[in-house]
Amino acid sequence: MKKKILVTGGLGYIGSHTCVELINKGFEVVIVDNLSNSEASALDGIAKIAGERPTFYEFDLLDAEALDKLFKFEKLDGIIHFAASKAVGESVEKPRLYYRNNLQTLLNLLDNMVKYDVQNIVFSSSCTVYGQPDILPVTEQTPVQAALSPYGNTKQICEEILRDTVKAEDNVKAIALRYFNPVGAHDSALIGELPLGVPQNLMPFITQTGIGMRKELSVFGSDYDTKDGTCIRDYIHVVDLANAHIVALNRMIGKKQKAKYEFFNVGTGTGSTVLEVINSFEKTSGEKLNYKIVDRREGDIEKIYADTTFSNKELGWSSEKNLDDMTSSAWKWQVALREKQATEA
Ligand code: NAD
Ligand code: WQD
Repeated sequence: MKKKILVTGGLGYIGSHTCVELINKGFEVVIVDNLSNSEASALDGIAKIAGERPTFYEFDLLDAEALDKLFKFEKLDGIIHFAASKAVGESVEKPRLYYRNNLQTLLNLLDNMVKYDVQNIVFSSSCTVYGQPDILPVTEQTPVQAALSPYGNTKQICEEILRDTVKAEDNVKAIALRYFNPVGAHDSALIGELPLGVPQNLMPFITQTGIGMRKELSVFGSDYDTKDGTCIRDYIHVVDLANAHIVALNRMIGKKQKAKYEFFNVGTGTGSTVLEVINSFEKTSGEKLNYKIVDRREGDIEKIYADTTFSNKELGWSSEKNLDDMTSSAWKWQVALREKQATEA
């Protein structure tokens, strides 16, 4: 019998890639998404790549009644909870929206897990919980720092909710994955990131500039204490990240956890500067990128990258793709999007 997994936010960027890998590895996938930051066409992309169409429920996870019905009807073996609001800047403007959407959706899921005895949940956390760490690379023992935004705070609070819930509820187990900077797209270019409006993140801004949607990329600061003066991040290919979820899920289902609540860093262990990302993009796309150095962006962290020893050894997961794989797949997706938009126009 196939194990049935509920993927919340399964039509979003990381969720859609994870659905593909779940189907590839023999899981049955049920998606809930309210399409607040995604398009239903992602379902076609998943089906085309994986050769199987997941069951899709379109509703808001804040709708406790609809969620209860789903749990009653679908006999679930586990949950991967991606659904959340994720724009850091917007969270400063609309904190209550972020606290409501990111905390209440998790609470609704946990209520139903207890009620219907669903035992396993993988949660999307973020390296944002570490702030600017004093020592690099960051291990799982690196202290969590006061959050710099309501968004970051929701990730910390959700981790605490999970930690406390597994203590109180005998059957509930959880793994939080702290993602570093997910980028890139599926190699088929059938699914990828769909940023709304002007992208705040580096990679979609680069590819949109490369394709002519944006005039030029602003590189935020060149006077940081790094090898070329630009900030360092641990960029991770979204397909590698997707696979970490399957490994985490199997760990829970196979009862291999060392504790009922565990958390792991999911990065490559390699830090890249903004200029290195630009160079890789220019190399893999063959496009010259129009960019200029501007002032630092407020609130930016100078450098962060993961120590992946614990996830490699204990979780048994490691990344396989390099920066060139990330920029080339992101570019391929951007080109495919332009072609799609041209045929739809
Ligand atoms: P995304 O916005 O592409 O995907 C989230 C999906 O959840 C969207 O399809 C959206 O429509 C859906 N959704 C949101 N609220 C919902 C609700 N109340 N009910 C039903 N559906 C809802 O985001 P993503 O980049 O795929 O991120 C997935 C998760 O990973 C999020 O929890 C995010 O905070 C976390 N994360 C993302 C990054 C990143 O840089 N992308 C980094 C670290 C952590
Ligand atoms: C990367 C680097 C910028 C845009 C954010 C969230 C974080 C996490 C991931 C979810 C930085 C530089 C960027 C541009 C630039 N999300 N940059 N010009 O800041 O690491 O993290 O997304 O949990 O919480 O804060 O990612 O992609 O915005 O920036 O020079 O137009 O690119 O300064 O050094 P960041 P990013």
